[in-house]
Amino acid sequence: MPPESPFEALRHREAEHFLPVVRRLPVALVEGRGSRVRDVDGREYVDLTSGWGVCSVGHCHPALVEAIREQAGRLMQTTNLFYTLPQLDLVDRLAELTPPEITRSFLLSSGTEAMEGALKLAHRATGRRKFVSTRNSFHGRTLGALQVIGQAKHREPYAPLLREPCVIPFDDLDAARDAVDGETAAFVVEPVQGEGGVHVPSPGYLAGLREICDAAGALLLLDEIQTGIGRTGRMFAWQHEGVVPDVMTLGKGLGGGFPVAAFLCSEKVADTVSPGDHGGTYAGNPLAAAASNAVLRVVLEEKLVERAASLGARVEQRLRGFAEQHPELAREVRGRGLLLGLELCDAERAAQLPTRAIEKGVLVNVTAGNVMRLFPALNVPEDDLWPALDVLLDLIRD
Ligand SMILES: Cc1ncc(COP(=O)(O)O)c(C=O)c1O
Repeated sequence: MPPESPFEALRHREAEHFLPVVRRLPVALVEGRGSRVRDVDGREYVDLTSGWGVCSVGHCHPALVEAIREQAGRLMQTTNLFYTLPQLDLVDRLAELTPPEITRSFLLSSGTEAMEGALKLAHRATGRRKFVSTRNSFHGRTLGALQVIGQAKHREPYAPLLREPCVIPFDDLDAARDAVDGETAAFVVEPVQGEGGVHVPSPGYLAGLREICDAAGALLLLDEIQTGIGRTGRMFAWQHEGVVPDVMTLGKGLGGGFPVAAFLCSEKVADTVSPGDHGGTYAGNPLAAAASNAVLRVVLEEKLVERAASLGARVEQRLRGFAEQHPELAREVRGRGLLLGLELCDAERAAQLPTRAIEKGVLVNVTAGNVMRLFPALNVPEDDLWPALDVLLDLIRD
């Protein structure tokens, strides 16, 4: 028998003990720099997935690596019994980045945890227990997040553990008006749906939700875990509409690769909680907060929000050109900034695209069955991006 490749050896090792709850592509990554990653066999790829929209400043940005190294040698962990500077700096910075209405934040490690905190907070602030959310939404996989998720495949296996959901169509204000009532704690929504297939709501949707929530005394809870920190060409996607939420969540790009997330709220909402209401061993961990502070510094200094808007518009234009030329292959282009989706006509071929792209040195994601989702680093070099996009469009044409 020929000797196993490093990748095959790794795959066999994993098959022994790993709990097989995830689907993997046939690549084992060992290092990344900027928008390029290298696998265990020494092959290089352009990464248009940026670790699921997380590595907003690219893989291993020197400022992020240095901040982590520095903080790791100083103080890695304590508890929320004590004040720490990195945590304080981060909550200050978040307050600076958000409009004056949003004054408070609490730090956690994952987006799902931020959603849990936000849902608890909405219940606490209103005393109500009904949440209204949207079809195809994604908010995480814990039981609280599953309560509001709009994707049956994630929710239904656990349905006996959950309350009856109130999930309505996305981008439908009439449905929202009918669903949100005096029992509703919050309307929970992504300003642009990510996992659900990159859906941008019509202009006025968020403003309409704001009005509906205000009229019912319910909170508007915006999940910015995928869209936040510049991804859509504004620091937060709701800024496209000038609508301010009562509660919002952040994750992914907030840590640039280090697990950091947050939920934020207005002073009025914050007034309803007291010490002991929430917590977590790693909540506000100084190493994570230092990483996030470095990411936010880079995003601002390198003007990556503006870059996401301008580069994203050009990528969108290229995708639109392709879709117009090939209506038999591509149905629609959707998205904002550097969160873009190209809906393909053939779901079977769409499903094969990530594996075929690997062979050509590109990492890409297909979500919602047939939507090629591009969410590269906000600083993806154009020399990497355009050739990789050509590869993908050639593969779709092939
Ligand atoms: C909009 C949204 N909310 C919540 C989550 C869950 O975040 P995490 O996977 O960090 O727990 C995700 C993850 O993809 C997401 O896209």
